[in-house]
Formats: sequence, C-alpha cells, structure tokens
Amino acid sequence: MRIRRSLIDLDDLAADELTYIFERTKAFERKEPGPILAGTAVVNLFFEASTRTFTSFNLAELRLGCDVVNLWHRDASLASKGETLEDTAITLGAMGVNAIVVRHPEPGFPARMALVFDGHVVNAGDGAHAHPTQALLDIYTLIEEFGDVRGRAVAIVGDILHSRVAHSTIRGLRRLGAHVVLVGPECFLTHDYALDGVAVERDFDAVLPGVDAVILLRIQRERFEEMPITDEAYVAAYRLDARRLGLVRDDAVIMHPGPYNRGMELDDCVLAHAGWRYAKQVHHGVGIRMAVLDFLVHGKR
Ligand code: NCD
Repeated sequence: MRIRRSLIDLDDLAADELTYIFERTKAFERKEPGPILAGTAVVNLFFEASTRTFTSFNLAELRLGCDVVNLWHRDASLASKGETLEDTAITLGAMGVNAIVVRHPEPGFPARMALVFDGHVVNAGDGAHAHPTQALLDIYTLIEEFGDVRGRAVAIVGDILHSRVAHSTIRGLRRLGAHVVLVGPECFLTHDYALDGVAVERDFDAVLPGVDAVILLRIQRERFEEMPITDEAYVAAYRLDARRLGLVRDDAVIMHPGPYNRGMELDDCVLAHAGWRYAKQVHHGVGIRMAVLDFLVHGKR
C-alpha cells in the first residue's frame, strides 16, 4: 500500500519522527543522497510571494531527483476559473502528481487539500496558521547550536498573533521541552498564548539576559488593515538595537525566519553580531525540506 502522509503542522509528527527528520537532515547535509526520489512528481503550488521557502523546496526536490512543476497563482482563488480546490487535487492526482507543496493565504487550505488529494501535501505556509518546515529548520538550527533544546530558553519577539512561523515554532519547541518566552505588545500577543512551557512578557529588556536564543519576527502587515501600534512605539519597545544587544548573553544566538525589515525589528548592527544565525537557518532549509519529502514518501527507513 502506498504510504499516504502529509505535513500540515508539527502535530503531524511524533517525537521520534522529529528526531528522524533532524538526523536525516544532518546526513543529507554531510553527503548528498543522490536521486532517491527519482520518479516522484512534485507540484509547488504557491498563491503568495515567497523567496526562501519556494527556492529552498525547489532545490530540495531537484537534489532528490524529483520531477518538479512550479505553479504560481497570484490570484489566491482557484475559483477564478470555476474550479474548486477538490477538483484541482483530482486533476493533479490524475496526472500522476505524487506531492503538492502548497502556500496559500487562507488558513486550513493545505489541510483541505490533503483530505482530497491522493498523495502527499506539504504546507509551505497557510495564512497565520502554520509553517511547519520553517519551524523545523529553526529548531534544527537551535539543536545544532546547543545539542538539544530541552531546558533552553527561547524568546520569540514581535507580531506573534499573525505569524504562522511563530505558531509552528512554539508547538515544536514545547514538544521538545524548551522554555518559550513570547515577547510583544498586547496587540500582537494576547495572554491566551500563556500555556504550560510558554510565558508571555512585555518587557524585552528584562527578558534578554535570561535567554539562550532570540527569534525576531517581521510585523505581518499584509494580515491586518491598520497598524495597531505606531512604528515609533514598536521600535522603542521591541527593536533589537546596539543597546539591547549588550544585554544578550555572549553565547546566545539571534535568529529571524526572514524576510527581516531593517530599522523595524532589528538594526543593522544585529546582522554583524557574532550570534546572528540567519544564514545558517536559510542553509538548513534545503536539508530539512529534503528530509521531510523523503520521509513523507518513504517513511522511516
Ligand atoms: C515567513 C512566511 O512567509 O511565513 N517567511 C518564511 O517563509 N521564511 C515569514 C514572513 O513572511 O514574515
């Protein structure tokens, strides 16, 4: 029987499967596995702009020997030609497509697709809901740094409410036993986020000396009508600048899923800081996506 698996959020992966994906990433980064997915047809179906995620999935698929088709739809509605998501899934399936990597502004779109598509669906970001492969590569970067994330304190700072990356990363870090500290103003971070293993803080300066890692986020302006806080007030309270960098521990790392907005959530000096790990994150994105695709198609082996 065909293994039929999809990755919609990190909940779809058991703890041992997370570990397996991290091990495979490490192995693939050390030595390219060759065309182990030759004959697997993948469609990258993107309804939103993407630089990192799109390129990184593409490279991962090509390195594994997949047949790759890229479909960009600027119009987020498949219905522009009267076709439903279900009918698109049937159409792609009938052509022998084995996997669909999908990014869409509507939360739940990839999950709906997974229900009707006879193959694998990978969520490459759905609205403010989830972005599992970004969370995996962020967590992998932390594991590479610290050996394990268990017991480590990770601050995620900024527009938590509208960040699918934050939502997936929080899930993953909690599952793996890290202490998550969410930092931001009330308008971007409600108290509902305070859970077991997750603290909500408003005072960035007070949090900085106590954490092993800081993950900065972009304000997701495309997901709301009016900025609920002035840029000046946001910058004063939450921008990582030279003074705040002075509060960070020497061995702490600073991360960002990208794209970062200079002058908003960070100053240029952050990009020159010894703990800045952005390029590492992007680098690991390819290996993580290779490992995820191989795992979905072949299972653990
Ligand atoms: C993010 C996204 O699109 O969710 N970027 C990414 O995939 N690396 C974050 C963002 O857009 O701010």
